[in-house]
Amino acid sequence: GLADDEVRMKIVLAQPRGFCAGVVRAIDIVERALTKYDRDIYVRHEIVHNRHVVQSLESKGVRFVEELNEIPDGSVAIFSAHGVPRSVEAEAGGRDLLTFDATCPLVTKVHNQGRRYIAQGRTLILIGHARHPEVEGTLGQVDGPVYLVEKLADVQTLPLPIDTPVAYVTQTTLSLDDTRAIVEALTARFTDIIGPETRDICYATQNRQTAVRELTQVADVIIVVGATNSSNSNRLREIGEEAGLPSYLVADGSEVNPAWIANAEVVGLTAGASAPDVLVDDVIAALGRVKPIEVSVLDGKEERINFKLPAELATA
Ligand code: F3S
Repeated sequence: GLADDEVRMKIVLAQPRGFCAGVVRAIDIVERALTKYDRDIYVRHEIVHNRHVVQSLESKGVRFVEELNEIPDGSVAIFSAHGVPRSVEAEAGGRDLLTFDATCPLVTKVHNQGRRYIAQGRTLILIGHARHPEVEGTLGQVDGPVYLVEKLADVQTLPLPIDTPVAYVTQTTLSLDDTRAIVEALTARFTDIIGPETRDICYATQNRQTAVRELTQVADVIIVVGATNSSNSNRLREIGEEAGLPSYLVADGSEVNPAWIANAEVVGLTAGASAPDVLVDDVIAALGRVKPIEVSVLDGKEERINFKLPAELATA
């Protein structure tokens, strides 16, 4: 047979991939609160959608709950990066809790935009996925008529006259292509419609989608590291699939199936915005146990975005 170095399978990493500025900030808030306060630290919902991140914070004593009423008085309460409805903010404000909001500033921006549209007398249309916590948060942040559109077909069934003044906002982690199609359909249906000049899909989602599309040009198989409940990670996998490549979402190396890469010469590897680098390394190691590999990184955009921490934690 051939010597090892003649049959190495290439692993090409997308650039950028993995953590975004909103995820870095959210995890930082929890870690700084742990250091600074001698109180129990509770987070409402997974701080970011990644089991590994959650478990590593749990091992430091952080507790994760789904609802505020599970948090005892006197604790620190932290809202996850996805945002919360106003009812949750109000409930926390009325209790003996030290509250920190780790909502990504780009999600907060969508909340503010939605409120401005409603204040202008418009009916709001939120493009997003039902039951995702960001969508539940945004729906609960606006006080006025709001409708959720999940897919193209929903546009035709909106129970609104075509001359209703409407405005749309979107979830931050959608597919650029799907969203464009939905916005076009809305614009075709309604006579008085406005939306944000640049879509609400965040910079990190856009950059990771562009990067994985470039990866599909050079790879035979796409592997995305991320959680099944991570919206942006699922969209990355779909882009691979839409490009005609077998595309898989894995939580870590243990989920890699050797059969996926049996005939692959180039594996394209990327990671969702909530997936830490250690998990990418773990997947690379798992691939390397199947056959000899050679790792490189695709040229791509450098990200320099940083979000400010809450003032009380900036010096912790
Ligand atoms: Fe924020 Fe986008 Fe990350 S909305 S949390 S920067 S994926």
